[in-house]
Amino acid sequence: MTPLHQVITNKDTKIKPIWIMRQAGRYLPEFRKIRKLNPDFIKLCLNEDLSSEITLQPLRRFNLDAAIIFSDILMLPYGLNQKVEFKKNFGPILGQININEISKINETDFVEKIFPVYKALRKVSNNQITKNKNTIGFVGAPWTLLVYMINQQSPKKDLKQDFFNDNNLIKKILSILEKFLKIHIKNQIDNGANVIQIFDSWAGLLEEKDLSDYIYFPTLNLVNYVKSLNIPVICFPREIKNYKEFCEIVKPDAVSIDYNIDPKTALNHIKIPIQGGLDPKVLLTDRETLKKETIKYLDIFKDHPYIFNLGHGVLPETNPEMVQYLVQMVKDY
Ligand code: CP3
Repeated sequence: MTPLHQVITNKDTKIKPIWIMRQAGRYLPEFRKIRKLNPDFIKLCLNEDLSSEITLQPLRRFNLDAAIIFSDILMLPYGLNQKVEFKKNFGPILGQININEISKINETDFVEKIFPVYKALRKVSNNQITKNKNTIGFVGAPWTLLVYMINQQSPKKDLKQDFFNDNNLIKKILSILEKFLKIHIKNQIDNGANVIQIFDSWAGLLEEKDLSDYIYFPTLNLVNYVKSLNIPVICFPREIKNYKEFCEIVKPDAVSIDYNIDPKTALNHIKIPIQGGLDPKVLLTDRETLKKETIKYLDIFKDHPYIFNLGHGVLPETNPEMVQYLVQMVKDY
């Protein structure tokens, strides 16, 4: 059994597997080298030779327990023919959403448009390095995708004032997203993904009264779908107001916590396997601080099924030697 399955499915507390959100990325010089020659991020994600190679880069360096496919949650709106671009030092910029155009897209068009993502997954899961390890497929949660699709950029920059005005539009998009997210998940699993993570990066934007409509029910639908395919599903509802309630309603197989959550509180309230938590900024400090913080998480979750990870993606300015030190520490614990 693979390490993540041992923790998630068997609730094993003896092993503490580790992988890192954004483990394939800009903090690695070998990634930056490829990235420099490939300024178009979407094209890079759609080049299965390069995207599979980038996926494997961190596994060649570090003793990680899982590969996560080098792709992006915004490949889904891209597959639905919405314009998606990544501007340097700004982040994603999306074109205006045309609901009539999007409603016409069928499964074949969608799969054809992002097919290299599945080919890359196949290459990664067939590679010797991932033998007895997990290959993680992922999607954005409906809410977070909705935010990008309507807001056309990160809500960190600015959330459109009239965001919730067009309830009909929101309902239509959510139902289209449900259909294509399931297709995207199924294709990832068919090509070797043996864990699915659902990223809800903007779960923290919503008030409690809106959580049912926009997060709990749409996500529960997806979670049940992944479960029906017999693959474990991890949810990351970043900065959500109530992790406990989320877990009780959505019932993912495991939950990833962000760095604002006190790990002891998480341990007391969350009954399912837990992942992550460590603040990525700790990797920018010194070995002593990193050690102290890492051991804190490992000690707290000693008797709980736990997958080591960060509380959000590894930062581009991180020194890979600190990641090496972290992985080794978790392995030696
Ligand atoms: O974790 C991994 O190693 C796998 C690859 C992965 C990427 N994006 C590659 C990427 C994953 C799992 C994602 C998920 C993703 N993408 C999320 C959810 C997780 C989170 O960070 O909250 C979100 C919100 C996105 C959308 C997105 N993609 C943003 C906001 C940005 C710009 C911010 C940034 O870090 O530059 C991206 C670009 C992106 N996605 C990069 C990578 C490696 C950077 C691209 C570059 O080299 O410029």
